[in-house]
Amino acid sequence: MANSKKSMHGAWSSRFAFILAATGSAVGLGNIWKFPYIAGENGGGAFVIVYLLCVAAIGIPIMMAEIMLGRRGGQCPINTIKALAKEAGANENWKYLGWMGTLAGFLILSYYSVIAGWSLSYVVKAFTGSFSGESAAQINTLFTELKASQGEQIFWHTFFIVATMSVVARGVEGGIEKAVRFLMPSLFVLLFLLVAYAMTTGYYSEGLAFLFKPDFSELTANSILTAMGHAFFTLSLGMGAIMVYGAYLPKDISIAKTVFWIAGADTVVALLSGMAIFPIVFSNGLEAGAGEGLIFQTLPIAFGNMTGGWLFGVLFFVLLVFAALSSAISLIEPAVTWVIEKFTVTRNQACLAMGGAVWLMGLGTVFSFNSWADVTFFGLTFFGFLDYLTANLMLPIGGFLIAIFAGRVMHDRHTKEELNLKTEKHFEIWTYLVSYVAPAAVFIVFLSVLGIFG
Ligand code: PHE
Repeated sequence: MANSKKSMHGAWSSRFAFILAATGSAVGLGNIWKFPYIAGENGGGAFVIVYLLCVAAIGIPIMMAEIMLGRRGGQCPINTIKALAKEAGANENWKYLGWMGTLAGFLILSYYSVIAGWSLSYVVKAFTGSFSGESAAQINTLFTELKASQGEQIFWHTFFIVATMSVVARGVEGGIEKAVRFLMPSLFVLLFLLVAYAMTTGYYSEGLAFLFKPDFSELTANSILTAMGHAFFTLSLGMGAIMVYGAYLPKDISIAKTVFWIAGADTVVALLSGMAIFPIVFSNGLEAGAGEGLIFQTLPIAFGNMTGGWLFGVLFFVLLVFAALSSAISLIEPAVTWVIEKFTVTRNQACLAMGGAVWLMGLGTVFSFNSWADVTFFGLTFFGFLDYLTANLMLPIGGFLIAIFAGRVMHDRHTKEELNLKTEKHFEIWTYLVSYVAPAAVFIVFLSVLGIFG
């Protein structure tokens, strides 16, 4: 194979469309829901610094690698890795890397959809005025009730899976490009508004200090792993989502420049979310380490107490749902394209099968908040276990292997041709980062979690 293969699944209309779609994949619940609560649970500042370092040193080079692999392979991640391993004369077992990623996307979507379902239910709550004038305690009760209700969660989870699969079924070009073009800027505007509100709480500096003042004594090996895992999660790396989007990228578009936009936008959204949330947490005497309910217990307080909060609440949760939707699509696209390529079925049929399977799997997460609350897997609830397994283990291991594959298994002349960087020096830096720095960093973090350093 001399050149990249054109994908049978479609192509982005422009560089901008690709940036938007990849940013849509990256910016999601990970930024607005997960980042603040895991930063809260892991002590704030020091955690945030490790996360930022991981984005820069590991995330950016690996994102370039994934796009490059995807574009060269032009197929679903499983078949892309298989084809590229063959092209490089490498062991065919590399295909399991594609398998692990595709499975990770499937597992993540199963719980992602439940949380997106919470956001949907909050759209309705905001719309019907459930937050207005309510105290922090009353808002907390709303959230506890939602988690206790299987019916309500299953309803919204179903709704979200159907929405996701309907978009995926329409294919690459149809709809999503247009949707993100409008949604991403709106999300930014709303986040700025919320940050502005947070500034009026009188606890803005406490919030900022929590987020940016590092106390390294709070940092455990496990929180470093969580920060690194989150860098992969938030950038949609290590499982083939960005790889499959890369497959739809026309050949004449430069990869390096797009990556900085995607990673930059993703980081800004995460930091803005933290800056909006923590002042509200502290001004209401809430717990920063409250866990997965953090945004659902804090932001409604703001909406309930500001003028026009009703409207902002609706808009915010709607946008959160759309941010989740544009990520969800990319979580399942690797599995869907695999089914299409393997069984030569239509996109609709593949979506139906995958949607059904992921929906079923999601019930486990719903139950983990109520009837299975006491059932543990390695000391974690079903949801906690899935999250740990995927974000902390599968994505970093996937990213580690992707880096090695791109940096050491593929021939230099192929990666060079595909990346088409400005200078030889840039290419050398990238090769050094993916071949040594990124894999070594992942490896060291794993060793430290295993307690190798004492
Ligand atoms: N990046 C998405 C988020 O932050 C989640 C995601 C992970 C999407 C992996 C695709 C692949 O919400």
